Amino acid sequence: MQDLPFDQTRFRRTLGRFPTGVAVVTGAGPDGAPLGITVSSFNSVSLDPPLILFSIARRANSFAAWQAARHYAVNVLGEDQEWLSDRFARPAADKWEGVTVTAGQHGMPVLPGCLAVLECEAYARHDGGDHEIFVGRVLGLTVDRDGPPRPPLVFFAGRYRKLMPDPAAPEAAGDSLARQNG
Ligand SMILES: Cc1cc2nc3c(=O)[nH]c(=O)nc-3n(C[C@H](O)[C@H](O)[C@H](O)COP(=O)(O)O)c2cc1C
Repeated sequence: MQDLPFDQTRFRRTLGRFPTGVAVVTGAGPDGAPLGITVSSFNSVSLDPPLILFSIARRANSFAAWQAARHYAVNVLGEDQEWLSDRFARPAADKWEGVTVTAGQHGMPVLPGCLAVLECEAYARHDGGDHEIFVGRVLGLTVDRDGPPRPPLVFFAGRYRKLMPDPAAPEAAGDSLARQNG
C-alpha cells in the first residue's frame, strides 16, 4: 500500500477509493422553488429513530436554501439515471427542465424511476468544516419494486461505474445458464 503525504489532491484521491451510490436530494426552498442537488455523501445513521445524513458544501449556491428546508427527499439513482446525476450536479437555473416529478407528501418534488426514495423532515445540522452535515428523520419510504433491486448508479475514483450482475440473483443465474446452453 502506498503511503501518501497529506495534501488535498491526495486526500480526495484517497476518499475516492471508497465507492458510493449516487442520490439527488430534492426539496423546496423558502420561496417554494424546487431544490435539487446530487450527493454521494448520503448514508444511514440510526434505525430508531430512523435517521439518514448527507453533507452539502457551504459554497454551494443552494446552501442557504437547504439550511431553510424543513423537508426533503433522498432519491437513490439507478445506473440508467446518470443524466439526472449530471443535471443536479451543476449550478444551473434550468436544472428541472424536462424532468417530470411527482409530489412528495411534504411538498418536495420526487424524481420518478429511482431505486428508492426516502422522504424526510429536517432533524439536525452539524458543522462539517467546509460542508454542513444534514441529518434527516425518515417519514416515508418507497422502493422501486419488491424482489431483486435494479442496478444502482455507482461513483468510484471520480467516475460513474456499474455493478457487476450478482451471479447468485435468479435472473443472472438464468442468464449464465442460457449462455452455457447457447
Ligand atoms: C457524483 C457526485 C456526487 C456529489 N456529492 C456531493 C455531496 O455529497 N455534497 C455536495 O455538497 N456536493 C456534491 N456534489 C456536487 C454538487 O452536486 C454540485 O456542486 C451542485 O452544483 C450543487 O448544486 P447548486 O449549485 O445548485 O447549489 C456531487 C457531484 C457529483 C457529480
